[in-house]
Amino acid sequence: MKFSPEQVPEHIAFIMDGNGRWAMNRGFLRLRGYEEGAVSLRRITTHCRELGVREATFFALSTENYLRRPRREISFLMRLLKTYLVKERDMLMDNNIRLTTIGDISSFPADVLETLHETEILTSENDGMVMRLALNYGSRQEIINAVRALCAEVRDGKIDPDRVEEISEDVFAAYLADPQMKDPDLVIRTAGEYRLSNFLLWQSSYSELWITDELWPDFDVEHLDEALVAYVNRDRKYGAVLDPASGEASGSNGI
Ligand code: FPP
Repeated sequence: MKFSPEQVPEHIAFIMDGNGRWAMNRGFLRLRGYEEGAVSLRRITTHCRELGVREATFFALSTENYLRRPRREISFLMRLLKTYLVKERDMLMDNNIRLTTIGDISSFPADVLETLHETEILTSENDGMVMRLALNYGSRQEIINAVRALCAEVRDGKIDPDRVEEISEDVFAAYLADPQMKDPDLVIRTAGEYRLSNFLLWQSSYSELWITDELWPDFDVEHLDEALVAYVNRDRKYGAVLDPASGEASGSNGI
């Protein structure tokens, strides 16, 4: 499907849910669902790039998943991440995509960290699109980290304690995990759950939401196009009321 450049969201964030269910439905081990999810991740990343999306963020592992899933599953995901990064380097380079991450990866195995680091360095000059993997990521923790960093600046005299009212939304956002991140225009969640699950809570305050019953491994380019058609047909009001005559914003209803 064709979209004009101004119709395409600059930043799409994806909650890739339903991999386990996809595998169980077929009588496979859950782990097989993650392998198939990685195939979908590649397909959707290249489609975003073709569409002209500037940033695509993927919730690959939540803090809750990381802490609560069986170790066997987590170590499988670690192996998969490493294999994925090595395998997709050509795709990232051919498509001029820069890879980056958010989340606390400090406890990841050393070889996975090294592969991540190498891939980030290799792709660091690419400026066609950012592919951002959220790994051991939780939004509340990200916000707490930002508050702590701000408080430390006050303590260290870098922010004047008598001028804290000058801490605006923009000032605060600079302390979040990726200060370069534009707020997502569209958040897509697969597998039919109606929640944000601690994903980009600050950044998605005004994002459009699209929830589909498709399981992530089944989520294909036509499903993304379907989400974009719905997105294009929505009025993004950012809390304002649109004047029906002029179509211009004329106040706020707060939602
Ligand atoms: C949650 O749904 C999803 C995850 C824990 C991981 C998602 C990861 C991938 C799709 C592939 C990973 C890619 C890389 C780069 C490693 P679930 O799968 O637990 O779904 P369920 O709700 O059906 O059990």
